[in-house]
Amino acid sequence: MLRNICQAVSPTILRTIGTRMKHDLADMVLTARAPFSKDFLFRQFFDPISSTYTYLLADVNDKEAILIDPVIEWADRDKQIIEELGLVLKFALNTHMHADHITGTGRLKMLLPGCKSVISRSSGAEADVLLEPFDQVRFGRHHLAVLPTPGHTEGCITYVCDEQAIAFTGDALLIRGCGRTDFQGGSAETLYKSVHRMIFTLPRHYRLYPAHDYNGRTVTTVAEEKALNPRLSKSLGDFVRIMANLNLPYPKMIDKAVPANKVCGLFEVEEEKDKR
Ligand SMILES: [Fe+2]
Repeated sequence: MLRNICQAVSPTILRTIGTRMKHDLADMVLTARAPFSKDFLFRQFFDPISSTYTYLLADVNDKEAILIDPVIEWADRDKQIIEELGLVLKFALNTHMHADHITGTGRLKMLLPGCKSVISRSSGAEADVLLEPFDQVRFGRHHLAVLPTPGHTEGCITYVCDEQAIAFTGDALLIRGCGRTDFQGGSAETLYKSVHRMIFTLPRHYRLYPAHDYNGRTVTTVAEEKALNPRLSKSLGDFVRIMANLNLPYPKMIDKAVPANKVCGLFEVEEEKDKR
């Protein structure tokens, strides 16, 4: 009799426990979304060759705009959109000295005179503005704060906009992943500490926008990555072991991209000028 009752009840109990566990996990990762303020423009663009995201942000009233991580092949598109929207590009910023594509900042400076190139001083690259940790990048009434997040490269930074509850993490933190740490002064231990100290301490509902995604995803949150990132949710020791065993091939573009990005993409622009 008792066995019959147990057999009848067990699947129901198991289903209930399973559902509750799923709900607990959902509660851990789902957060209320803070809407953008009405005067904040946000656009996300994608380069399918390098899977790079470029972000256009602007003050809708003041018309000042910035671009984060532009790609040289898309500089004409960026210019066209900026002009169509009646915006003025103040800064073209990089999260770090990329190894997989050439930055569009040099070409954008040529296409949109008055625009300044921006990167961290610790990147070792040349630019009009060399950012220090915790500097602010202003456009209109909005601003981004600069958080040092080295580890993928020595000069990686994350740009945070507290008012809009968003951050641009470059390659320090990708959706369910992170940038490799085996070149350009990379260090798995440094990257782990950067992400845990600078990004995972942001409020859990902050949306995170990476420099790349290779699986069609566009955005994540602090809560999601803390719980679900298969590398960075682990211990430091496990993370270092994972990163040491990725066995990644030598990056195809690195020998071309890094020298060009050292001068914020101007290398390529100078070559073009010479050809004319
Ligand atoms: Fe990178």
